[in-house]
Amino acid sequence: MVSLQDKHSFRIPVYARDLIKVTSLDQLRDLPNTQDLWILGEGTNTIFTEDFDGSVLWVQLLGIEVQEESDAWILNVGSGENWHALVEYTLARNMPGLENLALIPGSVGAAPVQNIGAYGVELSEFVVSVEGYDLDAQEMRRLQNAACEFNYRESIFKTSQFSRFVITSVQLRLPKSWSPRLNYPDLADLSAASTPEAVMQRVIEVRQRKLPDPQQIPNAGSFFKNPILAVETVEGLRAQYPNLPVFPIDAAYCKVPAGWLIDKAGLKAMQVGDAGVHQNQALVLVNRGSATGQDITELAHKIIAQVYDIYGIRLEPEVRLLNSFGLIPKAHWWHHGA
Ligand code: EPU
Repeated sequence: MVSLQDKHSFRIPVYARDLIKVTSLDQLRDLPNTQDLWILGEGTNTIFTEDFDGSVLWVQLLGIEVQEESDAWILNVGSGENWHALVEYTLARNMPGLENLALIPGSVGAAPVQNIGAYGVELSEFVVSVEGYDLDAQEMRRLQNAACEFNYRESIFKTSQFSRFVITSVQLRLPKSWSPRLNYPDLADLSAASTPEAVMQRVIEVRQRKLPDPQQIPNAGSFFKNPILAVETVEGLRAQYPNLPVFPIDAAYCKVPAGWLIDKAGLKAMQVGDAGVHQNQALVLVNRGSATGQDITELAHKIIAQVYDIYGIRLEPEVRLLNSFGLIPKAHWWHHGA
């Protein structure tokens, strides 16, 4: 048995049967048993709520290669590199583009899995391809951007390639032509002449103000996804809640902030054991000391149930929660929660 407490940022003291640290591609070809595996990076979007009856594949493949083209830089980055360190690396070398995604916790390999996004920018717009080891076919494969099926916090690595494709490197393209992306409300007052560093500094400042530092207060970032609703549903909600912020997606759908729904429902004070809701951003659940996996799942169920009662909206976890068998499926939350 191996402790997982320092392998996931919620810091729940649970164990796995085994932990395999992967530092070379050869190790992937020689894995003794590819059943009951959980592929893990820095564990900032994964919560182990119970002892995991399987092996954790802890991917630590490093390396950054840069190629210059006439109009862009192409980066090949090992999946075990830290995401924010990569953002800093690119900006320090005058390769802008990733500044809105500064300070997102986690590894480069985890970034395409949930298609990380913040402040009006998503990773998917920079991905050329994702390379990995296919545990079923037992060979390396490269998926081009379109094959990754990116969507809001979604990708093929969560669906048909789930637990099958071990991401080993990510290829990114940063175009040389650059202008700041300031459409998100928190950045809207910055000057259009802002440098990439100035945008990054603002993003860091906003994140530090709103989001708890996982090193100080264990958490896994946004706990729920922002629900995507039909325009008519949002119009109905707006009649009742005129201040509800709405982010249009297309003519038929909008995204509404789950943090707002939770906050305005008065649920910031909700707590189960040491699991609670962060005061500055209700979308983030935190471990205030010795929260158990049961505390956190019970708190999530309560929030899902209350949000459904009040607004008729089903929240869905954005983090991936595991029980002893593996991923807790989405249906579980709605069955128990609403
Ligand atoms: N709001 C409240 N109360 C709260 C939290 C939010 O009223 O407690 C309101 C805010 O005032 C704002 C709106 O809700 O009007 C949106 O809040 P915010 O800008 O903080 O962003 P979010 O929609 O809650 C998403 C991402 C974050 C990302 C930010 C910025 C998801 C699930 N979360 O949060 O991502 O940093 O936008 O782009 O899409 C993460 O994935 O871990 C994460 C932190």
